[in-house]
Amino acid sequence: MTALLTTEPLRLVGALALSLGWLGLSYRMWSAHRNGGAMDTKDADWLVVHASQTGSAEVLAKRTAALLATGGLAAHAVCISALDRDRLAAATRVLFIASTYGEGDAPDTAAPFAGRLMTSGLDLSHLHYAVLALGDKNYANYCGFGRALDAWLAQRGATPLFDRIDVDRGDAHALAEWQHHVGRLAGTDDAPDWDAPAYGAWRIVARTLENPGSAGAPLYRVALAPAAGALPAWEAGDLAQVSPPADPDHPREYSIASLPDEGRLELLVRLQKRDDGSPGAASGWLCVQADTPDVVRLRLRAHERFRLGGNARRPLIAIGNGSGLAGLRGLLKARIGAGRHDNWLLFGERNQIHDFLLRAELQGWKESGQLAHLDLAFSRDQAERRYVQDVLRDRADRLREWADRGAAIYVCGSLQGMAGGVHEALQAILGAPRLDALAAEGRYRRDVY
Ligand SMILES: Cc1cc2nc3c(=O)[nH]c(=O)nc-3n(C[C@H](O)[C@H](O)[C@H](O)COP(=O)(O)OP(=O)(O)OC[C@H]3O[C@@H](n4cnc5c(N)ncnc54)[C@H](O)[C@@H]3O)c2cc1C
Ligand SMILES: Cc1cc2nc3c(=O)[nH]c(=O)nc-3n(C[C@H](O)[C@H](O)[C@H](O)COP(=O)(O)O)c2cc1C
Repeated sequence: MTALLTTEPLRLVGALALSLGWLGLSYRMWSAHRNGGAMDTKDADWLVVHASQTGSAEVLAKRTAALLATGGLAAHAVCISALDRDRLAAATRVLFIASTYGEGDAPDTAAPFAGRLMTSGLDLSHLHYAVLALGDKNYANYCGFGRALDAWLAQRGATPLFDRIDVDRGDAHALAEWQHHVGRLAGTDDAPDWDAPAYGAWRIVARTLENPGSAGAPLYRVALAPAAGALPAWEAGDLAQVSPPADPDHPREYSIASLPDEGRLELLVRLQKRDDGSPGAASGWLCVQADTPDVVRLRLRAHERFRLGGNARRPLIAIGNGSGLAGLRGLLKARIGAGRHDNWLLFGERNQIHDFLLRAELQGWKESGQLAHLDLAFSRDQAERRYVQDVLRDRADRLREWADRGAAIYVCGSLQGMAGGVHEALQAILGAPRLDALAAEGRYRRDVY
């Protein structure tokens, strides 16, 4: 009886809400009819959802939301990690901008969405959507996640506003097509084209081979400075994009190893060899071909997801291998500069004698206590191969203790082998739900390639 009494007003409210909703819908249908069939979107809430690893999709999502806003639409750019079942059920118009990682996989930010929501039987028949899929045709599964997302939305009953647009390595034509469609939705067809940021002219001021005699490919520490003018600002974790003369339309990314107050931009570049023995377009240019007077076309790219951000106040566990030390070195240098010594570096390479990159600096930090722990895994120094993930398993107790103290975990380096192995070791030590929670909190971040 009590239950009936308490639910009765709720029913009334529910009925009222339904009637109001129906009235609203009728008004929109009438209004759409009056506008010659176009849906009246002026009062609709648009979500522009980005699934990004290194920030390109996020930048495009913000520009897309801004373009919708110029047409008077209420639009918000949100990370896909913030899109749960309720938010999706409440949304009516969603534009997705999704990149692809690994072998056709979702970026880290989208892993929970792909794992939970995209395997559920949600009804999305109320939803209108469009997908901009970012990818690279050099990968077998081109735009794999964007395609999977598009197929899932259609399968769940959502209605496409226009066909999915695939973007190969930032292709300007594909982006202009997306911009045109979004402009049409916003009712503003005259917005200027989005330009990619311009490259600056840089020069190599120093270059040293860091692993002479190595069984692996040569790895160089390359220091650059602007050909003219002051050094621009960047933060630890950011990326440099280099446009190589042999392939100028397709920039290559490099993690920045130095801080602006060191007076130069430093990279750790592994010289890549193609199957025919010729050097890689960008690594060949940076490591051997470019000479001091040559201009290197380079631009900086903020990599928000790999910056310290709020983690500057937490202990840091930095894990990586090979050239991945570049990104980790930038983060450690920033922390040491800020007086934080609760830093733990786990680094892996092949042989200690040839491949202990930045040895003097890392050992100096360890001896002065600026690095609390330095754990090294030289895979080929003993009969059995031993990698950074194996060291991590040996240090399971310390890892749990640091995680309990609120530590953040940053991983930088090879996607193949290292990142997967480290991920599995972290899952085994902390448990998959805890690792997922750390990722959602921004306490587990990866810059892997
Ligand atoms: C976020 C991020 C950060 C990165 N950070 C670093 C870093 O700090 N240090 C670093 O060294 N690298 C880093 N990389 C990798 C870097 O961007 C380049 O991919 C790498 O240097 C190779 O580029 P390249 O132009 O020298 O080689 P490419 O010319 O692109 O060739 C690369 C490989 O592709 C194959 N290939 C491509 N085209 C051909 C062709 N026409 N014929 C035959 N084979 C071909 C070959 O196997 C070759 O080895 C990072 C990548 C990402 C995404
Ligand atoms: C390690 C790595 C793996 C990638 N895997 C794929 C892939 O399987 N398919 C694809 O189309 N693009 C792939 N890409 C390309 C990215 O999707 C593309 O560079 C995208 O523009 C990145 O966008 P973001 O900055 O928003 O993360 C990969 C890139 C990297 C660095």
